[in-house]
Amino acid sequence: MEQINDHLCRYKNYNFGIGLTTREHIDSLQSFEIRDSDVLLVTYPKSGTIWTQQIIISICELDGCRNKYPNNLEEMPWLEYREGREDYALRPSPRLFSSHLTPVLLPPGLKDKKAKIIYVMRNPKDNMVSYYHFSNNCNFLESPKSFDDFFEQYLMGNVGASSWFDHISEWHSKKDQYNILFLTYEDMILDLKLAVTKICNFLGKNLNEAAIEQVVEKSTFKIMKKDLKANYEFLPQDKVKRDFMRKGKIGDWKNTLTAAQSQRVDQRLHERLGDMSLKFIWE
Ligand code: A3P
Repeated sequence: MEQINDHLCRYKNYNFGIGLTTREHIDSLQSFEIRDSDVLLVTYPKSGTIWTQQIIISICELDGCRNKYPNNLEEMPWLEYREGREDYALRPSPRLFSSHLTPVLLPPGLKDKKAKIIYVMRNPKDNMVSYYHFSNNCNFLESPKSFDDFFEQYLMGNVGASSWFDHISEWHSKKDQYNILFLTYEDMILDLKLAVTKICNFLGKNLNEAAIEQVVEKSTFKIMKKDLKANYEFLPQDKVKRDFMRKGKIGDWKNTLTAAQSQRVDQRLHERLGDMSLKFIWE
C-alpha cells in the first residue's frame, strides 16, 4: 500500500486508513466465497451505515435468526477490516456484512445476483459535514485543519474511502450487475417506516405491522443513541473520542458551508453525476 499521509494509504485506487487493513486481506476478498443468503450493506462513510445496520439486524432478530453477537459491529462486520473478527467462512447463514468498498474491490461472487446488497447514499453536503466532525473525533483519521481545508480534501477525494462522487458513480453505473436496493439517508429520515418496509421486503422477511413498528422504534435516533449494542460507544474511547451519533438531521450543512462552497458542490454534482438522474434532498 502506498502511504499518502500519516493516516491514509492507497491501494487499487482507494484510500484506506493506515493500520485498519492489509493489502493481503483486500486481495483475499477476490476469492472470498459469497453465499446466496449473504446480505451486504454498502455505504460511503457517514451516510447512515450504523443506522441501517440497526434496521437490518433488528429485522433479522424479529424474524428469529440472530442476536448472537455482543454488538452490531460483531454482528455485521466490515468485510475490509478483518482483524480480530472470527473467521467469516464459519459463520452461520444468513451472514450480514458491511463495507465502504467500491465494486471492484469486493468479492466477484456478489455479481451472481443472489446475495443481497443494500446501498445507502446521503447528500454530499451533509455527508461532508458529518465526515468533517467525525474526522475531528477519531484518531484513525487526520484531524482537519479547518472545515475549508477538509472541503478541498473531500472534493479531491483525499479522505478515507476516496471520492464520494466516484463511489456513487461506480455503484450506480454497475447496479444492473447486482441484486441491489438503493436507499437514501434522507428518505430514511423522512419516512423511516417506509424505509424499514422496503428493507424488509428486499430481504424477503415477512414481518407483521407490529414487528415493523418495533424495528422503527429501535432505529429512531433517540432510542438508538441509548442502545449500547448499536451506538458504537463500545469502541475504545482512544479510537473515537465522541459519539458516532451526532445530530442525525438533513440540512445541517447550511450551518457550515458557504454559498460559494455549496455552489461548487452543485457544479461538481452536475459534472460528475448529472446524467444519472439522481434525486437529492437538501433540507
Ligand atoms: P451526523 O454526523 O450528521 O449526525 P455512519 O453510520 O455512516 O458513520 O453515518 C453517521 C451519520 O448517521 C451521523 O450523521 C449520525 O448521527 C447518523 N445516524 C446514525 N444513526 C441515526 C439514526 N438512528 N437516525 C438518524 N441519523 C442517524
